[in-house]
Amino acid sequence: MIKKTKIAQALKGSLIRLLLAIVLVFSINSLFAAEQVTTAEVVEVDCLGCHQESQGSSIHAIWQTPHGKVFGKNNETCVTCHGPSLEHGKVPRDNSPSLSFGPKWPSEFNEQSAVCLGCHEKGNQVMWLSGVHNDEQLSCLSCHNIHTQIDEVLVRIEQSETCFTCHKSVQASAHMPSSHPILEGKTTCVDCHNPHGNISEHSLNEPTVNDTCFSCHAEKRGPFLFEHAPVAEDCTTCHKPHGSVNASLLKTRGPFLCQQCHSAAFHPSVQHDGGGLPNTGQGSEFLLGKNCLNCHSQIHGSNHPSGSRLTR
Ligand code: HEC
Ligand code: HEC
Ligand code: HEC
Ligand code: HEC
Ligand code: HEC
Ligand code: HEC
Ligand code: HEC
Ligand code: HEC
Ligand code: HEC
Ligand code: HEC
Repeated sequence: MIKKTKIAQALKGSLIRLLLAIVLVFSINSLFAAEQVTTAEVVEVDCLGCHQESQGSSIHAIWQTPHGKVFGKNNETCVTCHGPSLEHGKVPRDNSPSLSFGPKWPSEFNEQSAVCLGCHEKGNQVMWLSGVHNDEQLSCLSCHNIHTQIDEVLVRIEQSETCFTCHKSVQASAHMPSSHPILEGKTTCVDCHNPHGNISEHSLNEPTVNDTCFSCHAEKRGPFLFEHAPVAEDCTTCHKPHGSVNASLLKTRGPFLCQQCHSAAFHPSVQHDGGGLPNTGQGSEFLLGKNCLNCHSQIHGSNHPSGSRLTR
């Protein structure tokens, strides 16, 4: 029941976001159409005549990137992103290119992204306009570098560093005793999140938290003969995704973890002395002090015919 309402809510949220995105993509596209570059204009301004390689400018590193390789080694490449820049071509020190990304003439975050979205509006970037980073006024350039041979955010092992510049608490988590191997580069942010935004909560790659976890921990999906309700519901009921001071990324240590939900008075899940139990004394005290997992080891679900108590 709880699960159904959750899914319904998520779907409702997604639909609204999707509609919003369609409207936004539409308006940006018509905006971009007005700036469309024609070949005639390209010939008018000789960008490369002034912005020469011999001046030791780093901008020519673009020839080593997919953009430079695809667009070709000519002025047309430059106007693809910076626009026709007619006035800039005449008196460069007084006039900005049609679109400059700075540093002298910085442009708005949405103007910057609109140019990129002109070509990258599909695939992973399709939800950009309704994503949280766009809401927070980041642009594509908050993470990507265009005029460098190696765009660090695309290099798996270095990727997280870009994210850590803003997400300090996630960085702290990644250093905790139990964590996903993010610092080692074995799991990275984009294994679970789409940094370009997604319709799911927290911009996860999959529609739900659990589906995201199953993409690597498939064995936890089941189906199980005996399910443990909170596991099927949401892994983050018990686990933290990035890092934890407790073993196995647990939010709280057992037995306290379990006792948040299980407080049946007849079972050792509540604190009591050995009094009411047979063999009062050492044996029972020993039993009471133990973590629930010593007996309920199949905490994620059991396929054993007599595993209904998740003990085997
Ligand atoms: C794919 C889009 C794109 C293309 C193609 C492109 N640029 Fe840029 N350019 C940018 C962005 C974005 C910046 C902002 C700096 C950055 O993120 O790399 C920039 C920055 C610059 C700067 C300022 C750099 C500085 O730090 O002072 C100059 C000059 C420049 N571009 C010239 C050119 C020239 C000349 C060409 C053609 C060879 C060109 N650009 C092609 C996107 C592009
Ligand atoms: C006549 C020479 C000349 C031509 C032609 C020229 N530029 Fe420039 N460009 C300059 C100079 C000089 C600057 C530095 C302006 C300054 O810092 O005052 C500059 C700066 C820039 C910048 C950095 C702007 C910023 O905000 O810091 C970009 C981007 C740029 N040019 C792109 C282009 C593009 C694209 C073309 C071709 C459409 C082009 N330029 C054609 C001379 C030229
Ligand atoms: C005119 C179309 C066009 C524009 C505008 C454009 N790109 Fe691209 N971009 C491409 C093409 C084509 C590729 C190469 C795709 C491929 O190799 O599959 C590419 C590749 C990329 C890649 C992958 C690079 C890699 O090393 O694999 C990134 C990241 C990227 N673009 C970001 C941007 C950003 C950020 C902007 C805005 C500043 C932008 N693009 C503007 C067409 C464009
Ligand atoms: C928060 C950081 C961030 C922002 C902002 C961002 N990107 Fe990316 N982008 C990434 C990362 C990380 C990857 C590598 C993804 C991977 O390896 O799966 C990437 C990959 C890409 C690629 C390569 C192909 C792909 O889809 O994986 C393209 C193209 C691209 N981004 C375009 C854009 C455009 C266009 C924008 C702005 C609308 C943008 N990015 C904004 C972080 C960012
Ligand atoms: C320039 C700063 C900046 C960079 C760089 C950045 N982010 Fe963010 N990010 C934000 C802000 C601001 C928010 C919204 C506030 C929050 O949730 O922390 C956000 C939100 C998010 C969220 C959504 C959280 C939620 O609860 O919905 C995710 C996921 C995320 N970022 C992942 C990434 C990843 C992955 C990278 C690197 C590829 C990255 N970010 C790089 C600033 C940044
Ligand atoms: C193993 C999957 C996974 C990886 C890897 C991962 N995340 Fe997350 N992240 C999640 C999940 C799941 C949530 C939702 C947390 C919740 O509901 O308690 C989340 C939440 C977030 C949030 C919002 C809540 C918060 O903790 O601030 C941000 C921001 C975020 N992640 C950024 C990142 C960044 C940056 C990286 C890479 C350094 C990263 N994540 C790596 C799964 C992951
Ligand atoms: C991209 C693959 C990937 C995804 C997605 C993923 N994990 Fe992991 N997970 C790993 C790897 C790799 C390890 C480390 C395994 C090892 O060290 O043997 C790990 C370890 C763990 C551990 C044990 C940590 C420890 O300290 O022993 C837990 C718990 C865990 N993941 C839970 C989750 C949860 C919950 C999710 C969903 C939010 C998730 N994982 C999503 C790859 C992933
Ligand atoms: C009711 C709490 C709870 C929930 C919900 C839960 N786990 Fe766990 N998980 C645990 C406990 C407790 C451990 C430690 C087990 C141990 O030490 O033997 C653990 C350990 C793990 C481990 C590391 C050891 C192993 O068994 O591989 C992974 C991976 C893991 N959980 C993934 C998941 C995933 C994926 C989900 C969601 C489908 C999930 N967990 C939901 C309590 C939970
Ligand atoms: C978020 C709440 C929650 C947490 C935390 C939780 N459980 Fe459960 N557990 C449940 C629910 C709900 C059921 C299903 C109860 C039912 O069907 O009557 C259940 C069922 C069980 C069962 C099977 C009982 C039966 O009647 O079939 C066992 C055993 C169990 N849990 C042990 C644990 C242990 C051990 C932990 C700690 C690692 C734990 N649980 C953590 C909510 C939780
Ligand atoms: C020494 C082993 C042991 C320990 C430790 C233990 N249990 Fe149990 N638990 C059992 C056994 C055996 C059953 C099955 C009893 C039955 O079927 O009548 C059971 C049954 C349960 C049930 C189902 C109750 C019911 O309706 O029959 C729950 C819930 C439960 N345990 C939770 C916990 C929690 C929470 C902890 C830790 C605080 C814990 N257990 C510690 C052995 C243990």
